[in-house]
Amino acid sequence: MKIGVLTGGGDCPGLNAVIRAVVRKSYKYGWAVVGIKKGWKGLIEGDAGQLTLDSVSGILPRGGTILGTSRTNPFKDEKNVEKVLENIRKLGLDALVAIGGEDTLGVANRLHGMGVPVVGVPKTIDNDLSGTDYTFGFDTALSIATEAIDRLHTTAESHDRTIVVEIMGRHAGWIATMAGIAGGADVILIPEVPFDIEEVCEIVKRRYENGKNFAIVAGSEGAQPKDSSKLMLKDAEEDEFGHVLLGGIGSVLEKEIERRTGAETRSVVLGHLQRGGTPTAADRVLATRFGVAAVELIKNGDFGKMTALRGTKIVPVDLEEAVKELKTVDMDLYNDVAKTFFA
Ligand code: F6P
Repeated sequence: MKIGVLTGGGDCPGLNAVIRAVVRKSYKYGWAVVGIKKGWKGLIEGDAGQLTLDSVSGILPRGGTILGTSRTNPFKDEKNVEKVLENIRKLGLDALVAIGGEDTLGVANRLHGMGVPVVGVPKTIDNDLSGTDYTFGFDTALSIATEAIDRLHTTAESHDRTIVVEIMGRHAGWIATMAGIAGGADVILIPEVPFDIEEVCEIVKRRYENGKNFAIVAGSEGAQPKDSSKLMLKDAEEDEFGHVLLGGIGSVLEKEIERRTGAETRSVVLGHLQRGGTPTAADRVLATRFGVAAVELIKNGDFGKMTALRGTKIVPVDLEEAVKELKTVDMDLYNDVAKTFFA
């Protein structure tokens, strides 16, 4: 038995822990593992190499992915789909583990529909994949964003400033919501709830009127104004899966808040700091459990499935269910918990 493993989409802390677990568990069964380079691009180009116990030794705490990654979508061009199928045959793969978010697993699901024996592992710092309570990588990103908010408090307070912190999350504001709650942000803006710039400024003003000399605004990069004529965001390009490449809400808010409230304001973009570096212990454990479970799915011939966390258990869910819609922020969490602490 020979299985392939690939990592696609944005990198994410814990990817190496999954790869290691897949290899270690496969070796217990006497299977060989082939590492596909740079996601689906590697299967289009036939770029792959054997993974051994040696090659995965020491990678558990390492960020990024030893296999490299890309946002390549083979379904953009039918010829590339044929190349993927041909390379699966040429490499002699009996099964494939695709580690990724909605885009990578969307491709896996379509390939499964074409008869490819594939299983998925849910990865994204955004935590926006359906079918699983959590994706690995989210806990690490959340810790980094929370630490950033903690650090911004002391500098904002020392300088009597408002600081806007721009947090990753294009279509779902899980990191901003949870880091905002954990870090005590005064306003949290997420893509799911279009904001009114006047209300945001009222909140900031009220905080100063109540005797505080600083404020922290946590905003997802995908947060949108209710009325775009009141606040212009810059045009964004799209990637191969049609997602806009965002960024810039922080600096727009910085200028508007300062102009409308008179409070000296700064902004900081956390960007890829949220994705780099070593995974938290919780992410290492979740990634390891997912990797082991993915090999079990293959052993049972349970293809077209993704490993998922439901409560405390790892269970299989259909890839179809995982990719059919994005898991957006729980509105009870946002409205009942997060908003309680808006200034
Ligand atoms: O999907 C993960 C993610 O980190 C998003 O939160 C973010 O919008 C996007 O990737 C950034 O993509 P890139 O690394 O291609 O700039």
